[in-house]
Amino acid sequence: MLSTARVAAGAGGRLGSGLVWGRPGEQTRAVTTAVATPALHWLSPPAGPAIELLDQTRLPAQEAIVTCADVPALVDAIRRLVVRGAPLLGVAGAYGVALAALRGDDVRAAAAAISRARPTAVNLAWGAGRALAAYEQALESGDRAAGQEAAARAALAQAEAIAAADAAASAAMAAHGLGLVPPGARILTHCNTGSLVSAGEGTAFAVILAAHRAGRLAQLWVDETRPLLQGSRLTAYEAGRAGIPHAVLADGAAASLMAAGQVDLVMTGADRIAADGSVANKVGTYGLAVLARHHQIPFVVVAPESTVDADTPDGAAIPVEQRSAQEVVTLAGQPVAPAGTAAYNPAFDVTPPALITAIVTELGVIQPVTAGNLRVLGAGPGRFADPRAAADVER
Ligand code: MRU
Repeated sequence: MLSTARVAAGAGGRLGSGLVWGRPGEQTRAVTTAVATPALHWLSPPAGPAIELLDQTRLPAQEAIVTCADVPALVDAIRRLVVRGAPLLGVAGAYGVALAALRGDDVRAAAAAISRARPTAVNLAWGAGRALAAYEQALESGDRAAGQEAAARAALAQAEAIAAADAAASAAMAAHGLGLVPPGARILTHCNTGSLVSAGEGTAFAVILAAHRAGRLAQLWVDETRPLLQGSRLTAYEAGRAGIPHAVLADGAAASLMAAGQVDLVMTGADRIAADGSVANKVGTYGLAVLARHHQIPFVVVAPESTVDADTPDGAAIPVEQRSAQEVVTLAGQPVAPAGTAAYNPAFDVTPPALITAIVTELGVIQPVTAGNLRVLGAGPGRFADPRAAADVER
C-alpha cells in the first residue's frame, strides 16, 4: 500500500534531498493502487495560505505532501524537483507570487527568487511574471489603503486563471495531437508529461491518454530517463493508473527498439521552445530525435503555447540547467561510480527544429516546424501583446 505523509517544508520538516525509494516491493503496488492526489493544491486560510505539493522525489513508493508556507520553501521544493515539469512550474510560480503577496513579503523579490530557481523551463518565470503583473496592476489602480489586500487577491486570481488555462490547454493539445497517432500505435516517450506536470492531463501524456481512450494505442514505451528516472518512477506510475499497456526501457535500448521496428511514433514534452522551433527538453530527447530521423519515425513535441519563448531566438540561446554530479554518480542514495568521480549532468538538451516532425500546442499543429509557422499559429511574438500581461522579472 502507498503511505501518505504530510510534511510542512516551511516549518522546517524537510524530506531530505535527492530521490527516495521505499522498499523494493512497494514500487509495483504503488503503480496499481495509487490514489489520484493532485500534484499541486492551493491551501486557503485558515490552514493556509500555503501551497501543497505531492513530493515527486518520493514517487512511486510513497505519496507524501510537502506544504510550502513561504517562498523559500517553494524555491527549495522547485530546486529539489518535488514539483517539476514545465506547465506545473508555471502554475507553481504564479501561486508562489500570490503566497508572497498574501504574506506581505517583498513580492518583486519573491518573483525573482522563484524565476531563478530553475533556468530552462520558461513557464516558471512566465507564471511568476504574470502573477507579479496582476499584483502591480491592482496596486496601481486601487486605492492605497485597501491596495495590498486587493493586489494579493489579484495575484491569486491570476494563479487560478493560469491553472485553469493549463487544464484547458491540456485537453486541446490532446484533441489536436490525437490526429497524429495512427491506429495500433506503439509510442515511445521520454521523461514525464502527465498530470504530475500539469493542472490537466499533461502534454505528450495527454495525447497518449487520448489515444488509449480512442483504442489507438497498442503500446507505450517508457524511457527510464536517467539520471533521475522521471520515466520509470513517474510515467510508469501514471501509465499504470490509467491502465495503459506499457514497458520501461533503459534509455540506451531505444536505438535497438527502433531498429526492431517496434516504435511508430516518438512523443515528448518541452521545457522551452525557441522562436526558431528549437526544443529544450529532458536530457536524452535530442538523442531520441536523431535516432527517430535515422529510423524514419515521426518525432512529435507537445507543449502549451506558454512554453514557446519568443524572446529566445534559437536553441543556442536557451539556458541549460546544469545539476549536481551527485545525481549521476549515485542512484537512490547508493554510489554507482568510484568516490570522487566527476560527472557531466545537464538537465536538458536542445533538439533542432529540422529533427522535429511537428509541434502540438493548444492552438493546433505546427508542421513543418519553422519560425514562420510558429508565428502564424499565434505562438511566440504577440504572446505579451498586452503590456500588462507579464511583468519583467529580474533574474
Ligand atoms: O527536470 P524535470 O523533471 O522538471 O524535466 C521535465 C521535462 O523535461 C518534461 O519533459 C518537460 O517539462 C515537459 S512536461 C510537460
